[in-house]
Amino acid sequence: MFEVEDLSQASPATVSRCGMVLMEPKQLGHTPLITSYCNNLEKLIGKISETVRGYMHYLSDCCIEYTNKVGKFPVPTDPNFLVNSMLNMFECYVKDWRSTEVAVKIPKEADEMLQHAVLFAHIWSIGVALDEFTRPKFDVFFQDILMNEDVNAKYNLDLPNFELKKVAVKLGEYKSVFDLYFDRDKLAWINWLKTVPPYVVPRDVTYAQLIVPTIDSIRMNKLMTMLVLNGKYPMFCGPTGTGKSITVGNELMRSFDNTEWIYLNMSFSAQTSANQTQRIIDGKMEKRRKGVYGPPLNKMGLIFVDDLNMPQKEVYGAQPPIELLRQWMDYGGWYDIDTNEKEYRHIVGVSFCTAMGPPGGGRNAISPRYVRHFNVIYIEPYSQESMNYIFNNVMDWLFLINQNPSYSGGIKGMRDNIVNNTITIYKLI
Ligand SMILES: Nc1ncnc2c1ncn2[C@@H]1O[C@H](COP(=O)(O)OP(=O)(O)OP(=O)(O)O)[C@@H](O)[C@H]1O
Ligand SMILES: [Mg+2]
Repeated sequence: MFEVEDLSQASPATVSRCGMVLMEPKQLGHTPLITSYCNNLEKLIGKISETVRGYMHYLSDCCIEYTNKVGKFPVPTDPNFLVNSMLNMFECYVKDWRSTEVAVKIPKEADEMLQHAVLFAHIWSIGVALDEFTRPKFDVFFQDILMNEDVNAKYNLDLPNFELKKVAVKLGEYKSVFDLYFDRDKLAWINWLKTVPPYVVPRDVTYAQLIVPTIDSIRMNKLMTMLVLNGKYPMFCGPTGTGKSITVGNELMRSFDNTEWIYLNMSFSAQTSANQTQRIIDGKMEKRRKGVYGPPLNKMGLIFVDDLNMPQKEVYGAQPPIELLRQWMDYGGWYDIDTNEKEYRHIVGVSFCTAMGPPGGGRNAISPRYVRHFNVIYIEPYSQESMNYIFNNVMDWLFLINQNPSYSGGIKGMRDNIVNNTITIYKLI
């Protein structure tokens, strides 16, 4: 049996020789995904899973219906992928309870904690995949859900059998739901900026090494580590210059270069071939046993593929390097290309993280069969606030390293004006 994405390359003869059964994802819908996940969760946490089940069905129905109507997704996606991403994100909050190695005691606050986790999972899977124009609308919509409004009537959603469900948990003080991170240990929502220590401009770095943390980079780092450590795959997508490469590259060095992890940072271009990609990855792998390869023993490997959608499409519309990586996702490996035996190499102990610009202008739309394995995280262009914050810190760094002679107080005092006006002029031209 073959499963095809579409019939765009099939001739009428091919079609007539095969028995075709056309299935559309929406015939299945997202409900069975949640039902089956929660049935499994019930084995772990018993009756508490019923609350989770209720919230997940309610929020997913509302959010999917709303985003179908209003949302714009820079990476083409499907409601079922989004719900799957939501389940991945939620799983990060319960994954360690599944451990079979250590005896795990489910905390007594689990019920409340998981209600928060369901909210977080929806915001950071469905909401975060939206572009910068429809995300604020989703924010308002989600806040209405939290205020227990009848969103079906208010937004003309057309949800069959809609029953208003009261959301019992509160998020505290916030402007946008995208400002907050839910901390499981503290059982509290915290502004992303407060999840890291205050930034101090370092003296001993070069200009190229200077990375100023902004709310976007803090969120990227946190979501990336959360997903990767729980065996999920993040895909960052955002316009050029949003700090994807620099932020992920920095996080790789900080969190994935230690006794437990090694990383591989690779970048695709229009000319990258499948064989090159395979050789680069294979070159970093060691033989574990016959036919099985992986990173050095006792380590996990994280492979970061930057500019993922750059490879040129071949004549039938596929991007071979991406198809190779998809084969790993689906079948766990690839055939050795350098020996006559063409042995199948299972690649174990690796995880993937990817980044790319939105499709368009030389960047291709990638196969949905690859995208479905990822949690898509869209990075918005820097806000004016973040931009000012970055450049103010860059100026501070300049004042700090030039001590002999140092800049006068008068010049230092002009920092905000210099930054503001430079950005204004840049935007004008
Ligand atoms: N938070 C930051 N602090 C300091 N410099 C930054 C920051 N964010 C971006 N930059 C600067 O912007 C440049 C572009 O960032 P980067 O290459 O990571 O963007 P990108 O999102 O990967 O873009 P592209 O889609 O074109 O690959 C960096 O080289 C860096 O100089
Ligand atoms: Mg980049």
